Amino acid sequence: REVKPLARLSLALVFEKASLRTRTTFDVGMYQLGGHAITLSNTEIGLGTRERVSDVARNLERWVDGVMARVYLQGNLQELAENAGIPIINGLSDMLHPAQLLADYQTIEEEFGTNLKGLRVVYIGDGNNLANSHIHMGILTGTDVTVVTPVGYEPNAGVLMDAVKAGVTVTLTNDLAAVEGADVLYTDVWISMGQEAEADIRRRAFRGYQVTPEMLDTIAPDGIFLHCLPAYRGLEIAADVIDGPQSVVWDEAENRLHVQKALLTFLLRSSS
Ligand code: CP
Ligand code: NVA
Repeated sequence: REVKPLARLSLALVFEKASLRTRTTFDVGMYQLGGHAITLSNTEIGLGTRERVSDVARNLERWVDGVMARVYLQGNLQELAENAGIPIINGLSDMLHPAQLLADYQTIEEEFGTNLKGLRVVYIGDGNNLANSHIHMGILTGTDVTVVTPVGYEPNAGVLMDAVKAGVTVTLTNDLAAVEGADVLYTDVWISMGQEAEADIRRRAFRGYQVTPEMLDTIAPDGIFLHCLPAYRGLEIAADVIDGPQSVVWDEAENRLHVQKALLTFLLRSSS
């Protein structure tokens, strides 16, 4: 029996930035659930430039059943949400990337089971949107999260405050030795979308923070390596690691589709 829980429902995909995985998985996910996705690039809609963010929201809510938006400013997502009576899904902002973390944790559960309490997740690299969302997942699931960054590239202060308020300890350090014994080792690009002008400074600042085979040797024997992709071999990640046996990055990418289908069903079916 074919199950089409989102038959006749539409999702708008708004992109201020480039995407392979997010664009494809939300679109294919909607199709597989019986719904429909429409992709709107920022050259078309000009979020906040051609038209106020609040007016974009007021229009979209009249036609579609949900919006997935990839934006620079987290505040733009909030403005969309405040002005539309339909679900607004964060498909990455400068601050957070929660849809990615859902897939990451599905992958972690596939490897370690569903009792995540105390599982050591070590994120190394830039204290960016991925690092911030890792901290939120630590708060939600009870994993033991460590974030290893160069000085000056620590995670968002407000997100760290979320952990304090939740009574959850997050370890922040500049010391590479914190990787030792990790169950999950995670890294991301050193230069996120929008930071291209800082590329040289960042490459210098992050030298030494590459995930190498030697570093991987120090994690737990059954430990895994994750990366949200796209990856830059020779910068944040050595080719032998991402293409090696402890890397589960392709399962992780596949899971974007599965877990987002669950998210879409939960959000759109219940709101329709
Ligand atoms: N990981 C991720 O979000 O990939 P895209 O930027 O290709 O969507
Ligand atoms: N931190 C990266 C993630 C890309 C999926 C960026 O924001 O560009």
